Amino acid sequence: MTDIASLQSQILADINAAGDEAALDAVRVAALGKKGSVSALLATMGKLTPEERKQQGPLVNGLKDTVTDAIAARKAQLADAALEMRLASEKVDVTLPPVPENSGTVHPISQVLEEITAIFADLGFAVAEGPDVEFDDYNFTRLNIPPDHPARQMQDTFYVAPQQGDQGAAHVLRTHTSPVQVRTMLAQKPPIRVISPGRTYRVDSDATHSPMFHQVEALVVDEGIHLGHLKWTVEEFCRAFFEIDTIELRARPSFFPFTEPSLEWDMRCDRSVPGQIKFGTGNDWLELGGSGMVHRRVLENCGIDSGRYSGFAFGFGLDRMAMLKYGIPDIRSFFESDLRWLRHYGFAALDIPTLDGGLSR
Ligand code: PHE
Repeated sequence: MTDIASLQSQILADINAAGDEAALDAVRVAALGKKGSVSALLATMGKLTPEERKQQGPLVNGLKDTVTDAIAARKAQLADAALEMRLASEKVDVTLPPVPENSGTVHPISQVLEEITAIFADLGFAVAEGPDVEFDDYNFTRLNIPPDHPARQMQDTFYVAPQQGDQGAAHVLRTHTSPVQVRTMLAQKPPIRVISPGRTYRVDSDATHSPMFHQVEALVVDEGIHLGHLKWTVEEFCRAFFEIDTIELRARPSFFPFTEPSLEWDMRCDRSVPGQIKFGTGNDWLELGGSGMVHRRVLENCGIDSGRYSGFAFGFGLDRMAMLKYGIPDIRSFFESDLRWLRHYGFAALDIPTLDGGLSR
């Protein structure tokens, strides 16, 4: 007679030692299968005397139950472990930062654009947009520059050949972002507070000029707007943008057909070391752009009552602001797509400029 207790501990040890479901199944067949050790034991029951059966029966049945339960428990354990292993091997860590060598960078122009948007959003300005291919009417005529006006020669324009569907309207590549002033005033009534950053085009190319460049336009129209508002906004904006209090701005009287009076703004900088540009010190000035009180004729051309409302506008060169802030001496390098330059001057893609988090890090 097999010793039931030692058979049981042998089978239980085999169950525990089974490392996967196949091994466990082999143990099950060896114990509970047709020719298994437990089944063999059960088969001997018939040959026992009634007394012996009374005594042995519950023991053998108990063995069978214990083994069955142990196999089920081990099976569940193995399934859990297999799942854990699979989860561990398929784990994706979504918090991993991009691998630095393989990641792109944000172009300084895009960075500056984000920074300017963050500053003006904080001042309650919305962002307005206009197309690069603009109506001649919006780029010039409604801005108080009629077709025969000599001021058109101030801006060397790329004219666009007439297209089907133009319905006689002439188009140009916009020479400034000021046509977005027109679009905004035609579309909404005062109070108006918008900025409009974007691409602009002029037939011009040398060390400090590129035929495609960027401007940011600002327009405020409301009751009682005066030159003081313009001055405050420009100074506040520049201080926030350059992130230091010691910047020095200079306003010069100027002329634009669409503003009266007109002012141009320069910023003090140092260009005494060739290939370098610094702001906050030095004896040189870098032109930021033009500004002025919106000409009453422009307000009227856009359907705004110039007796009731007044406004100011400015249009600054975005590329120049980026050059100053990030010490980039040559405007042409912005558009050369030199990967080494982009890696050096570019910004991390996930650092979004905010006023409280820091504009540039
Ligand atoms: N549009 C002008 C320019 O190109 C700048 C400007 C904008 C001037 C708004 C006055 C007001 O150069």
